[in-house]
Amino acid sequence: MYFKQFLDELCGCASYLVASRQSREAAIIDPALGIDQYETLLADRGFSLRYVIDTHVHADHVSGARALAARWQVPVALHESAAVAYPFRGLRDGEELPLGQLRLRVVHTPGHRPELISLLVTNPPRGPEPSMVLTGDSLLVGDVGRPDFGGGDAAAQYESMRRLLGLPDWVAVFPGHFEGPCGKGMCGRPSTTVGFERRYNPVVQLDRDRFLREMTESTPARPLNMTTIEAGNRGLIDAAWAMLRTASPVDEVAADALDHRPAAALVLDVREPSEYAAGHIAGSLSLPQADLAARLDELPRDRPIYVICHSGSRSLRAAQFLKQVGYGQVVNVRGGIKAWREAGRRLAQAAPVGDAPRVVDTEWTHAGGRLT
Ligand SMILES: [Fe+2]
Repeated sequence: MYFKQFLDELCGCASYLVASRQSREAAIIDPALGIDQYETLLADRGFSLRYVIDTHVHADHVSGARALAARWQVPVALHESAAVAYPFRGLRDGEELPLGQLRLRVVHTPGHRPELISLLVTNPPRGPEPSMVLTGDSLLVGDVGRPDFGGGDAAAQYESMRRLLGLPDWVAVFPGHFEGPCGKGMCGRPSTTVGFERRYNPVVQLDRDRFLREMTESTPARPLNMTTIEAGNRGLIDAAWAMLRTASPVDEVAADALDHRPAAALVLDVREPSEYAAGHIAGSLSLPQADLAARLDELPRDRPIYVICHSGSRSLRAAQFLKQVGYGQVVNVRGGIKAWREAGRRLAQAAPVGDAPRVVDTEWTHAGGRLT
């Protein structure tokens, strides 16, 4: 057997190459857009690609599955319920994919997305039971995938989590994310075991009611450019341009420096609509980061743009993306609305609201350093 995990520092995603060293056949799971990394390894090892599998329709990064599958003239494989606009091989729960002496068993684990599958890997010459499971965004390290981006189902996520935790203790867990917005509290390790998660994963300890509340009570900060990326992964448009490719430096200012911004400047608020409604800087434009790429034509290219969010994390990545697509005068507001409020500045409200939403603004590291 051969196994390699690829970690994408910029989006916090993990992809995998599993191969039989006997038959030289390989499977690639959840490939990133940069497919040369897999091609190089396949060539170096003399493997031929038999399966390209996406565990689900991704919303936070553009999949490289179709490009890779086209080069090798194999179909992309997804769960049979996947709603995509291109031909694919539909996988069923319980189906086994032979890969030389190895077996990849499909386990339908909906929740984060309805079509999400996990893959159980068994190597019969070594043992009759599975030794590892690739979980996509179902069971994560110290967390589970968020069911609240749209299309997800917290109750299904609970059942999927219990199903995966029914595996033996020793089964190694390799998730689709080690960081990023698809979870709220991933610990950062790129792998774990079923036994450790059953014992120490905080959401696993919750009873069903508390789990459902925990999964749905906070405002989800949907991923950057999610609308465009998801449409691309469904085969509806070409979305490669909507991926943030580098963590390039962006000018930053403290929140109270907004008092002295140029008169022509636009304050761009990339938080979710409910967060904006609860309190925002007067005159700012609400354009959630999830819709940024889809609504670029609303942003002027000839005026400075001050990008703000809850605490400065989402706005930094949004500002980096705006730079990437050619906006020349982009500034990130450090510390976001939180810092603005702490500096004693006033917030406008779009409409009467009740309690301010509890915001989950996932902190995570990437090549550009720790975000806050
Ligand atoms: Fe996901």
